[in-house]
Amino acid sequence: MSTPIVIDCDPGHDDAIAILLALASPEVELRGIVTVAGNQTVDKTTRNALKVLELGGRSDIPVVRGAVAPLKRTLRTAAHVHGESGLDGPDLPEPSTQLSDDDPAAWLEPGVVLVPTGPLTNVARLLEHGVRPDSIVWMGGAIAEGNITPAAEFNAFVDPEAAAIVFAGGVPLTMIGLDVTHKALFTRAHADRLRGTGRAGRVVAELSDFFQLFHERRYGMNGSPIHDALAVAHVIDPTLVTTLHTNVEIETSSEFCDGRTVVDRWQSTGRPANAYVGVDVDAELLRDLADEGGGPAFLRPWRCRRRGGRRLPVGLAADDDEDGSDRDDLSFLHQDAGHGSCCR
Ligand code: BDR
Ligand code: CA
Repeated sequence: MSTPIVIDCDPGHDDAIAILLALASPEVELRGIVTVAGNQTVDKTTRNALKVLELGGRSDIPVVRGAVAPLKRTLRTAAHVHGESGLDGPDLPEPSTQLSDDDPAAWLEPGVVLVPTGPLTNVARLLEHGVRPDSIVWMGGAIAEGNITPAAEFNAFVDPEAAAIVFAGGVPLTMIGLDVTHKALFTRAHADRLRGTGRAGRVVAELSDFFQLFHERRYGMNGSPIHDALAVAHVIDPTLVTTLHTNVEIETSSEFCDGRTVVDRWQSTGRPANAYVGVDVDAELLRDLADEGGGPAFLRPWRCRRRGGRRLPVGLAADDDEDGSDRDDLSFLHQDAGHGSCCR
């Protein structure tokens, strides 16, 4: 059975990869996308979301444009990471799909997981209007380090007032922060393996090429964390990230620490737990699948094997698959537009 999800995002290279991962994964069913201002203006992030869905052959999935600006602050974008378009690198056609008139609150039926991968502006507004998703898996925050300031992760920093509302909101909340996303690097070798596998694989490789340049220059990393994809991956396989149920408070009025997610790692405050905070990634699940010809294991659904006319993700295809090595990639999405994953 697949888990229905709604992605609230600001694409963004890693948001784009998160969307494609959701499209390619039988374990989740993407019900809709809401966009938010973050990595770029909301006009740009919305255009990018539509481009990505068209690339995946899933322009039937509704997209609603969300908040133009944070609740109380001037928008701070991340053009230095994602470029002027918010999705620099691959040459994607301008989208022709219209935006949806849906009310995203109606998508959040019982059982639907909300996966925000940008600032929490839209989510805070939903909660303030009394909408209560069953659960939220957010990419953002950090226990230990910042990436936009020494103290803060970008999504938390852009709209800390929204983050404070969401962390106080009482909805079961998982935080996939930098502490875990920095352990899940997508390397040039992974990109090269995808490059020749079809249109979507090539686009992911080109997204990664652009994204990696920043991470290599800025952090000396041998690859790039594809932060947002790890949040979707954790919904796909909730054993992927080990979490700690503890208290998290959001700093909103500090000269140096605005946007800091203050995680009570060792439960020293006595404040009630309000979040499941990612503390580790399963190394076994994340092992390099070089022998499988794949990338990090959380990208496994992009490569499928056939069994009895059905295709299974490599990660789920045990050694007993019938014809073994018949692998595919996201190009199937174009052959089967409207139906999504090869693995359903
Ligand atoms: C987060 O910030 C954005 O630039 C990325 O898309 C990701 O959601 C990482 O800090
Ligand atoms: Ca993002």
